[in-house]
This record gives sequence, structure tokens and C-alpha cells, in this order.
Amino acid sequence: VTGAGGYIGGSLCHVLARAGHDVCALFRSPAPESGVSPATFSASIHGDLRDPRVRERLVGLRCEAIVHAASAPQSSVEKDFDAAIQSNVAAAYSLLDRLSASTSGWFLNLSSVQVYGSKRKGSVSEDTTPEPETSYALLHVMREAVCGLFDRRGRWRCTNLRVANVYGTSGPATSSRDRSAIRQFCRAVRSDGVIRLKSDGSDQRDFIHIRDVERAVLAMLGRPGERPHDVVHVASGETQSVLDAAWRVALAWERLGKPRPRVLDANGVELVRPACFEERYRFDIQRLVDIGWQPNTTFEVGVEQTLRDVLSEPGDSASQPGWVAGAP
Ligand SMILES: NC(=O)c1ccc[n+]([C@@H]2O[C@H](COP(=O)([O-])OP(=O)(O)OC[C@H]3O[C@@H](n4cnc5c(N)ncnc54)[C@H](OP(=O)(O)O)[C@@H]3O)[C@@H](O)[C@H]2O)c1
Repeated sequence: VTGAGGYIGGSLCHVLARAGHDVCALFRSPAPESGVSPATFSASIHGDLRDPRVRERLVGLRCEAIVHAASAPQSSVEKDFDAAIQSNVAAAYSLLDRLSASTSGWFLNLSSVQVYGSKRKGSVSEDTTPEPETSYALLHVMREAVCGLFDRRGRWRCTNLRVANVYGTSGPATSSRDRSAIRQFCRAVRSDGVIRLKSDGSDQRDFIHIRDVERAVLAMLGRPGERPHDVVHVASGETQSVLDAAWRVALAWERLGKPRPRVLDANGVELVRPACFEERYRFDIQRLVDIGWQPNTTFEVGVEQTLRDVLSEPGDSASQPGWVAGAP
């Protein structure tokens, strides 16, 4: 698992190890900072995938499958595109090139539903043409294309997992987990009882709980003999507006016996009830359903668990400026 110090990679390392896989973890930052103990794994490597020596060590492990979760976040991509292209695209090319020269296996690349851009409509299947609107999404499209190239070359099968908006707690604390909209809403209600949206809340998202992402990867790795699809959605298959999500966090807080939080739009206007925005799109999740996977953490349960987790955080330094549109 690359990106083992990150939100999804870190969670996957633990879950895969618990499921009996021999997990080799690649960390970039030192393990203590990432909160993941290398002792849990069969092998751990430290370093940056842009470094050929690090890639060589990874190739030397002769892994049967690689879950590629290493990636520069959106903020870094926007700050330094040249560096991000090296991390998110060129490193994957060089790794797969080197892997294909000596071994064979299965490369599961974590991509994002952001590749579709914002103009999605109706049922969005994996055959829908990507129309990236951000440099971050563009890099995911490019990395998917790299995977497609090596898949066609035949030694390494490659599957691109287009993941929706992940939230919830599992594994180590990471900045990416903390940037998730749902966690920010939870922290906002805890710190000052107000969720401030950065819009009118009509933007729509598919929120998937981290445990369902873990289960999806486990389900796929549990069928190694099968020719996998080249692209698979990892999503809940349900779409809701950001305002509805905020309201559901507010109501979950109230169910914990706390005063109901206020929800404000970008102009500071209080939104007194959930709005009914027409559902504009829905991600087709049939490919995962076909291998026996179903999302099983409902939004209510996931939010309540996230709220409890936020409540258990020390201090009250959790004041959040609001939800940033486009965050993962
Ligand atoms: N989180 C979501 O909601 C979400 C949704 C859809 C798709 N995804 C995709 O899923 C993947 C994983 O996301 P995440 O949320 O787990 O991200 P994350 O928490 O930011 O983790 C990414 C990890 O990759 C590492 N990394 C970055 N560049 C590297 C390099 N050159 N060499 C080695 N390691 C490197 C980072 O190391 P450092 O710790 O040193 O920075 C970090 O530990 C990404 O591709 C992301 O786009 C995430």
C-alpha cells in the first residue's frame, strides 16, 4: 500500500493486515508522525516515490498487488503543478514501468469521481467520459491513462477506483481525513454550534464511509482470479446536497441531547430547514454490487460515529472556518 501514512492508505493497511494479507506499507513521512506503527506490517519502506531507489525497493518486495493511494492533495496540486505531476503521474509511470519489467500483479489505483467535473447528470457510469475541471482532477485522469497503458501491455493488470467523498474514522488521524466536509461540519457544531456553508448548499456530493471503501478494496482483492474492470466506482450510490448533509449533521447532534446547531449559507443567512434540491446525478455502483459489495454504513450511523469521534478529541481547538467547496 503506497500512501500508508494517509487517510485511505493508512486505513487500508490496518484492514488488510487484519484480514490476513501480508501488507507492505510505503510511508513518505516518518511513521510516528503518521500515527501508523510499521510493526503491524510485513514490510515497510520510507521514502518518496519520485526517488528511483524507493521505487526499486518497492519492486524488490515482489508484491502480488499494489494499492496506490499515494497522491499529492488538491491544495499542493494547485500550489505547485510541476511537483504534483511528478508525484501523482510520473512516479506512477516509472513505478509501473519498472514493475512490468520484472514482475506481474494487480495495481489498484485510487482515483476520484472528481474526474467527471461538476456537470454530471443522471446516472453516471464508469463509461461516462471524464471532463476534469481542476488540475487535481486532471492529474487523476492522467494517472488513470498511465494505468490503462500498462494494463494493455499486459504484465500488470490495472484497475482505477474512482472514489467518492470519503468521511468517517478508521485508522490514523490525517490531515486529509480532517479536511473532509462531514468532519468539518462535526467540528463546527462542537466548537460553536454553527455550520457555515461556503455556498447556498446546493452542490451535490456522494459521501461514502471509509469502512465501505475498505470493504470495497477487500472485496476486490478477494477475487484475484477474476479479470477486473478497468474502472470501478467506489461510492455510496446516493447523492445529497451539501445543505442536506449539513442538516443531517445538525440533527444527529441534536439526537445526542445537544442544542440544535444553526446552518448558515455563504451570505450568513440562516437556513431553517433542509432544502429539496433535485438530485442531479447518481454514481452507478453496479460493478461493486456484482462482486457482492454493498455500502453498509448509513449516513446517519457514519455521521453519529464521526460526531462522537470529534467529541472525544482533546481541547476545543477545533473551530473550523466552514466547508470549502471542492474539498475531498
Ligand atoms: N479522501 C477522499 O475523500 C478521497 C476521495 C476520492 C479520492 N481520493 C483519492 O484517494 C487517494 C488517497 O487519498 P487520501 O485521502 O488518503 O490522501 P492523503 O491522506 O493526502 O494521503 C496521501 C498520502 O500519499 C503520500 N504521498 C504523496 N506524495 C507522495 C510521493 N511522491 N511519494 C510517496 N508518498 C506520497 C502522502 O505522504 P505525506 O503524509 O508525506 O504527505 C500521504 O501520506 C488520492 O489519490 C485521492 O485523490 C480521496
